[in-house]
Amino acid sequence: MKILEGISLTKVYRSGWIGGRKIPALIDVTISLEKGGSLSIIGESGAGKTTLAKVLLGITTPTKGRVIFNGKDVTRGIPRNLRRLIGYIPQHPESALDPRWKLYDSIIESLRIHRIEKRREQVKKIIERVSLDEDVLQRRPHEVSGGELQRAVIASSLIIEPILLICDEPTSMLDASTQADILRLIRSIKEDMNLSYLFISHNVDVASFMGDRIGVMLAGRLIELAPSRELLRNPLHPYTEVFINRKSVGAGESTKLRGCPFYDRCPHRMPICKKKAPKLEKLGEGHYIACYRYHSED
Ligand SMILES: Nc1ncnc2c1ncn2[C@@H]1O[C@H](COP(=O)(O)OP(=O)(O)OP(=O)(O)O)[C@@H](O)[C@H]1O
Ligand code: SF4
Ligand SMILES: [Mg+2]
Repeated sequence: MKILEGISLTKVYRSGWIGGRKIPALIDVTISLEKGGSLSIIGESGAGKTTLAKVLLGITTPTKGRVIFNGKDVTRGIPRNLRRLIGYIPQHPESALDPRWKLYDSIIESLRIHRIEKRREQVKKIIERVSLDEDVLQRRPHEVSGGELQRAVIASSLIIEPILLICDEPTSMLDASTQADILRLIRSIKEDMNLSYLFISHNVDVASFMGDRIGVMLAGRLIELAPSRELLRNPLHPYTEVFINRKSVGAGESTKLRGCPFYDRCPHRMPICKKKAPKLEKLGEGHYIACYRYHSED
């Protein structure tokens, strides 16, 4: 059963007020996550990963498309009773917690918002699970290490016992060993709590460690989706190949509404690639690709 579905999601931002430039951050993205499953999303800076997370979380309304959570259409926002079933670890942990509050108060706040009782016991249980010392809870965000802060953010997302977790680059600011600890922690909590999660990263190794499947985004589009091992062993999209081999991929190109977003950098480009963006189509078992090398125009 699917716990989360994003169907043909498009988000166009506008820079400034009336008449501002259109910024298509997300273009016709369709993804889904099975109950108990894990999906990683990778892509360079500006690819639209955070926008996808915010649209799925109901923080940002899509310009087009639908979001289905646990069988309910939540495109226009997620009602409170369903919201407590979703945990979110945002891209910048320091912005997730109020800088004036002690960590304890921030962690307990989610329980208060969702009117959950037995708050002290719940806090005790979750800080044990994320290996945070009780005395650290009496400090404010600027008084703790990056790893402790991230554990506190994870605790505040998980204390409401969500069934879905959306993690946006939760370890990118941490040193390698703390990063490994946090990734292992999220994976083991997933097993204990029977969570499903969507994990955003710009690092292929992290993405394959965290996700059963990986989706690759470029300039607002999902250009390849495959089981993690398959994607690493057999990347088909020329951009995925470059990304995985960690050759220089350059800065994110400006998003194009027409044509393949990799056209300017692709060694295999053809005239059709410039005219119309290829659709994501199935090529093999669980392997989807948007590239005219593998399928024709329609
Ligand atoms: N609120 C906003 N208003 C206008 N443009 C935005 C807004 N949020 C994001 N964008 C633009 O949308 C595009 C996608 O941004 P997004 O933050 O989703 O990328 P990302 O893949 O998460 O990048 P990063 O890896 O740097 O976090 C970028 O061009 C960004 O500048
Ligand atoms: S669609 Fe064309 S330009 Fe785009 S990646 Fe495939 S071959 Fe290259
Ligand atoms: Mg982001």
